[in-house]
Amino acid sequence: MNVLVTGATGFVGQRLVPALLDAGHEVSVLVRDRTRYDAPDNVAVYEGDVLEPAGLDDALADVDAAYYLIHAMGGGRGFEERDRRGARNFASAAEAAGVDRVIYLSGLGVSGDDLSAHLRSRREVEAVLGRGAYELTVLRAAIIVGHGSASFRIVRQLSSRLPVMITPRWVSTRVQPIAIADVIAYLVGVLDAPETAGGTFEIGGPELLTYREMLSTVGRILTGREPYIVPVPVLTPRLSAYWVDLVTDVPAGVAHPLIDGMATDVVVTDDRIRSLVPVELTPFETAVERAIDEETAGGGR
Ligand SMILES: NC(=O)c1ccc[n+]([C@@H]2O[C@H](COP(=O)([O-])OP(=O)(O)OC[C@H]3O[C@@H](n4cnc5c(N)ncnc54)[C@H](OP(=O)(O)O)[C@@H]3O)[C@@H](O)[C@H]2O)c1
Repeated sequence: MNVLVTGATGFVGQRLVPALLDAGHEVSVLVRDRTRYDAPDNVAVYEGDVLEPAGLDDALADVDAAYYLIHAMGGGRGFEERDRRGARNFASAAEAAGVDRVIYLSGLGVSGDDLSAHLRSRREVEAVLGRGAYELTVLRAAIIVGHGSASFRIVRQLSSRLPVMITPRWVSTRVQPIAIADVIAYLVGVLDAPETAGGTFEIGGPELLTYREMLSTVGRILTGREPYIVPVPVLTPRLSAYWVDLVTDVPAGVAHPLIDGMATDVVVTDDRIRSLVPVELTPFETAVERAIDEETAGGGR
C-alpha cells in the first residue's frame, strides 16, 4: 500500500515509519523542514505544513492511506484554532487526492463538558477529519509510554526529581497508559483490518492505574524509592501546571494543556479493537524500563 505519514519527525511518527516499511508498505512522509528529518532508505520526503494547504497536494497524490499524527500544542496558545485549521486543510487535500483511508491518533477521555481544552481539541480534529470523503479510523490513546513522549516525560521527571510531592486531587484520576510499541502495532495493524475503516477505537495498556500509582511505579523504577505523595484539595490543576514548569523541562505550551486534562479519567471503555487487531500488550513496568533504556542509550528522542 502507498502510505503517507504526517508528523514523521514526532515521537510517534518517527517510530511508525520504519514499522510500516517492515510491514512491506511504500512509505512517504510530510515534514515541515526536511533538513530536520533523517529519512530511512526508500522513504519519499515531501515538505509541507498543514496550515498552508498549497503544499499538501503533491504529498497526497497516489496515496492509499494517510496517517495524521499532528497536534499544534508545540506552537503554544491558540492551539485549538491551529488544530482545527490544519485538520480542515488536510481533510480537503486528502479528499481531493482520492485518498481511501485516513488514520488519526487521538486522545482518550470520556466525552463531556468537563473535557480539557486539549481533549476537546482532539475531538474536534476527529470531527473535522471525519467530514472528508474517505474512511477515517480514529485510535484514542491516553499517555503513551516511550522515550520522547511529552506526557510520559512529565510523569518521569516528576517522579524522579521530587522525593515528596504535594499534588492536587488528580492523583486519584484513573489512567490506562500504553507502550509505544503497542501503539505502533495498532497503527500498522489497522491497515490490514478493513473492519476498522470508518471506526473510532480506544487503545490502552494492560493495567488501569491511578496517577498516584503511575508516579510511584516510575519513581521506584528510576530511583529505587517511591515518592511520598500528599494530595491536597486546594491545589487546582492550573496551579499544579505552574509547579510542573519548575520541575520538568517540558515546554509550558505542551505541559499545561496536558496537566489540565488530568482531572478526567482516561481509560478504555470499549475494547472492540482487541478482536480486530490482536496485539500482545506490554506491561506498564516493561514499557517504562524500555523507555528508560532507550533514553540511556541515546536513541529516539
Ligand atoms: N504522546 C502521547 O502520549 C500521545 C497520547 C495520545 C495521543 N497522542 C497523539 O498522537 C499524535 C502524535 O503525537 P506525538 O506525541 O508524536 O507528538 P510530537 O512528538 O509533538 O509530534 C508532533 C508532530 O506534528 C508535526 N506538526 C506540528 N504542526 C504541524 C503543521 N502545522 N504541519 C505539519 N506538521 C506539523 C510536528 O512537526 P515539526 O517537527 O515540524 O514540529 C511533529 O512531527 C498527536 O495527534 C497526539 O495528540 C499522543
